[in-house]
Amino acid sequence: MSPDRKIAIRRLTTDDYDAIRDIWVRSGLTSLRLKGRDAPGEFARQMESGCQIALGAELDGKLVGVVLATHDGRKGWINRLAVDPEYRRRGIAKALIAEAERVLREEKGMRIIAALIEADNEPSLELFQSVGYHLSRDIYYLSKRENPDV
Ligand SMILES: CC(C)(COP(=O)(O)OP(=O)(O)OC[C@H]1O[C@@H](n2cnc3c(N)ncnc32)[C@H](O)[C@@H]1OP(=O)(O)O)[C@@H](O)C(=O)NCCC(=O)NCCS
Repeated sequence: MSPDRKIAIRRLTTDDYDAIRDIWVRSGLTSLRLKGRDAPGEFARQMESGCQIALGAELDGKLVGVVLATHDGRKGWINRLAVDPEYRRRGIAKALIAEAERVLREEKGMRIIAALIEADNEPSLELFQSVGYHLSRDIYYLSKRENPDV
């Protein structure tokens, strides 16, 4: 990427949903639930809740990366981070994480920020550790679902 092509990070809204979904799909996010919590209506409800901030990375006005910064009142969470396959290894995910952390810390008062990453997602495990996240090898993720799509 030439030095004059700067990444701009901006807040996204429900109006950006289609572009966000396109990046999620193109990125091959395995946890994506387009009939469940990532459906347009669910996304709108989450944005309305005040517990979720959507951030986008733009290059020359084109959305190339997204992340959802959420909090549950106790912890901040980095969710649904994805970068368009054509624009990887340029520091875009790093920039999105940095801005998500800033927002969660400064605006929401979160002092711990966490991410759930599938055990075989090596790029993502490398990425988070490269920006200071501690990998816990002794925690299991348990969940209870209304149905497999949620
Ligand atoms: C994981 C992902 C978001 C990384 O996006 P990215 O913009 O390419 O990441 P960055 O350029 O900011 O990478 C920063 C650092 O992370 C690590 N990293 C990123 N991708 C990596 C890969 N494929 N293999 C090993 N390390 C990797 C490196 O340490 C890298 O620094 P370097 O390029 O100087 O070596 C992207 O690969 C993606 O969208 N994957 C599919 C969706 C996904 O799995 N999202 C995460 C869900 S938890």
